Amino acid sequence: MERRHLAECGSTNTEALAHLRDGGGPLLISASRQTAGRGRLGRAWQSDDAALTFSVARSFPADLDLSGLSLAVGCTVADTLDPAGERVRLKWPNDLFLDGAKLGGILIETVPLPADRRGVVIGIGLNLQPLPADADRTAFASGHAALQTLEPAASAAATLDRLAPALRGMLADFETLGFAPWQAAFARRDLAAGRRVRLGDQPGIARGVNARGELLLETAAGIAPCSGGELSLRLESSP
Ligand code: BTN
Repeated sequence: MERRHLAECGSTNTEALAHLRDGGGPLLISASRQTAGRGRLGRAWQSDDAALTFSVARSFPADLDLSGLSLAVGCTVADTLDPAGERVRLKWPNDLFLDGAKLGGILIETVPLPADRRGVVIGIGLNLQPLPADADRTAFASGHAALQTLEPAASAAATLDRLAPALRGMLADFETLGFAPWQAAFARRDLAAGRRVRLGDQPGIARGVNARGELLLETAAGIAPCSGGELSLRLESSP
């Protein structure tokens, strides 16, 4: 997989989508600073060198079910950074948490390609350094956690060197096997499991995910699978 690093760009996801549209092959692109970084649900994700920001681009068959892809990516990142599995947890469908606060997020975007292929860009933002003591924390609704709390010497370059091969292998497996092989790994790190949650406007209890990576939400009507899309999951009770 080709690797590129930019000192600054608007968004590594935007760069990676343009690369695929232009017919480019698999690419990992990172940036020291993003000026127009994007998060899920139209939110901004500004980042400087206190964070690791990168995107992985490749194509898949157009009919591959991508519903569990962000969870498989989350499991791969979490297993690489925290192999013991005790501190990094995953909040369906795209958040990484460390010790109860948000460590990072995943933004997947796609672009149609010729010949029944679909271009897929997986953008990952991970906080490396803790916020300065005087930082305005109101912008961090889910809290702010930093990788250097887990691993004091963590640098952007060394972290990327560990994540790149793990993600490359995971994406090859996902193409043939889909999400099912990661269902158990996700369950071990599932932050919402058994908790009272709100998915969009719908309150319920989170009951894990199915083999497609859909959230199983228990309501008075029973347990129903819900897909990620444009919905945000709020945790309403402690474990
Ligand atoms: C979220 O938590 O809402 C997802 C955040 C994803 C941010 C990453 S940083 C690298 C890539 N480029 C972007 O513009 N966004 C993603």
